[in-house]
Amino acid sequence: MSNGKSLKLWTVNVISFILFVILCSTGLINWLVLPRGYEARGNFWVSLRHFFIVVHEWAGLIFIVLIAIHIVLHWPYIKSNFKKYGIMK
Ligand code: HEM
Repeated sequence: MSNGKSLKLWTVNVISFILFVILCSTGLINWLVLPRGYEARGNFWVSLRHFFIVVHEWAGLIFIVLIAIHIVLHWPYIKSNFKKYGIMK
């Protein structure tokens, strides 16, 4: 693998991991920790919940794009395995 491609993959992987950690924390905190609507009666916790939802959604979208780039960068390897195991000619 060329140096340029390795660097691209490394960068994509590190950013994906950071986004995954953000997704896990914002998703789990919203689900298990923060109070929901009426319970919190429009105070700071509701604003924080809304903020986390926006962060979660954008992190999710960027994560999906990065996973697609990850697959594209690994495509020759994936194709050769498809051939090796007889899934593709
Ligand atoms: C591609 C990755 C992901 C996408 C696109 C995504 C998207 C979403 C969306 C759209 C919601 C609903 C938010 C709303 O109320 O508007 C949600 C909720 C949630 N997500 Fe994710 N998510 C992703 C990854 C993850 C991961 C890795 C976790 C790991 C724990 C996670 C945990 C949760 C939880 C627990 C909720 C419910 C939060 C609540 O009860 O309000 N998500 N996600």
